Amino acid sequence: MNTLALPEIKPLFTENTIQKRIKEIAEELNNEYKNEEVFVICVLRGAVLFGVDLVKHLTMPVNMDFIRLSSYGSGYASSGKVKAVDIALPDLNDKNVIVVEDIIDTGYTAQFISTFINGNFKVKSYKFIPLLDKKCRREVDINPDLYGFDIDDKFIVGYGLDLDGYYRNLNYVGYIET
Ligand code: IMP
Ligand code: MG
Repeated sequence: MNTLALPEIKPLFTENTIQKRIKEIAEELNNEYKNEEVFVICVLRGAVLFGVDLVKHLTMPVNMDFIRLSSYGSGYASSGKVKAVDIALPDLNDKNVIVVEDIIDTGYTAQFISTFINGNFKVKSYKFIPLLDKKCRREVDINPDLYGFDIDDKFIVGYGLDLDGYYRNLNYVGYIET
């Protein structure tokens, strides 16, 4: 048997807490857009669980797509450089665009996405919604339009967030003591 020595995870937000907050975010969006179509762009890979759970609660017509970016190298440190692995997007001109991310940390990824989308399309509206906001680490002057939870400067895993590919499957969010 293959036994991996994975570090211990300290829980932060339970499955219930996360799902409740996601419903609140969805309700806000449902109230704001009413029956207007929205284009939800989910940022792979970290936001995949948040993205799929959020769209289930949206009641307007939803067009969902995915882009894949990478900013963290391996391990605990953000590289600060954002790489577009796959940024093929549908025509977003005159669309309500909602970008769904796992976490906003330094802000470089959020800035990259905003610059890319708003530089290539004349969108009707634009929102950036990460599940988590690690404000204390911000290096770029950018803030989410709506987000799930504030977090301190900790290395977060679970519910899409990974350490070298592990822990994405957890239904809760926790941190690893570094
Ligand atoms: P930023 O560009 O520094 O804002 O970082 C955003 C990206 O870094 C996110 O999409 C995550 O993939 C990754 N990231 C930032 N903080 C963490 C963390 O605590 N755990 C896992 N991934 C993180
Ligand atoms: Mg990510």
